[in-house]
Amino acid sequence: MTIFEGRGLSVRYGAHVALDGVDITLEPGVVHGVIGPNGAGKSTFIDALSGRKRPSSGTVTFEGVDITRKSVRWRRRRGLARSFQRTSVFGSMTVGDQLDMIARRNDEPDLDGIIDTLGLDAVRARVCSEIAYGTQRSVDLAIALIGRPKVVLLDEPCAGLVHDESVRMLQHVRDICKERDVAALLVEHDVDGVFRTCDVITVLDLGKVLATGTPDEVRADENVIRAYLGSAA
Ligand SMILES: Nc1ncnc2c1ncn2[C@@H]1O[C@H](COP(=O)(O)OP(=O)(O)OP(=O)(O)O)[C@@H](O)[C@H]1O
Ligand SMILES: [Mg+2]
Repeated sequence: MTIFEGRGLSVRYGAHVALDGVDITLEPGVVHGVIGPNGAGKSTFIDALSGRKRPSSGTVTFEGVDITRKSVRWRRRRGLARSFQRTSVFGSMTVGDQLDMIARRNDEPDLDGIIDTLGLDAVRARVCSEIAYGTQRSVDLAIALIGRPKVVLLDEPCAGLVHDESVRMLQHVRDICKERDVAALLVEHDVDGVFRTCDVITVLDLGKVLATGTPDEVRADENVIRAYLGSAA
């Protein structure tokens, strides 16, 4: 069952076409990975889907409704959340205060459950700028999960994490997606992690979809091997 769909999405920055007619379909409980080289258009794609950047053409549909022209705030309130490639925690607040504030704003009934799932209880009273970077990335994920979103768009949640942290983060993303029946779009550079974590993968290159399929299908795709995976596959 499709809950969220992008069709023919294009984004231009001046004369530069950063995203060129991209399609995607997200389903509840399915982790959909998006990979591709630097500058492929992955963050631009999340911006277009989340409402941060208005696409120059194409449509975004959420639960059957065309939301292409709806604001970020409108989408967030109805269950479309995102995280950013760079951490967006407020340095000067405690972890608990920041999460409480966002939970109140988004009518989250079970913040304790989110904190517990992500193992953040021990840092609740700590100031965000003083906790380890890896823990800040978990706070970013917690922020995205507040308000019972039906769809989460995650832009490189593992950026800057060491290997073990990255493995744990991706396992959290997968577990939460399955437990809460959330449709997840996961942009990530850690290709091994994406192949391990995702049910479906889309490969972007130069703003276009190179391939979409199961990890096995994508790994075997000749265009993907030639343009992106090379001998690493
Ligand atoms: N605000 C902007 N103004 C002009 N060009 C931009 C802007 N943001 C991105 N671009 C360009 O659009 C293209 C896609 O960028 P984008 O950040 O979406 O790629 P990405 O796949 O997320 O890359 P990375 O893996 O480095 O995060 C790049 O060529 C980039 O230089
Ligand atoms: Mg990016």
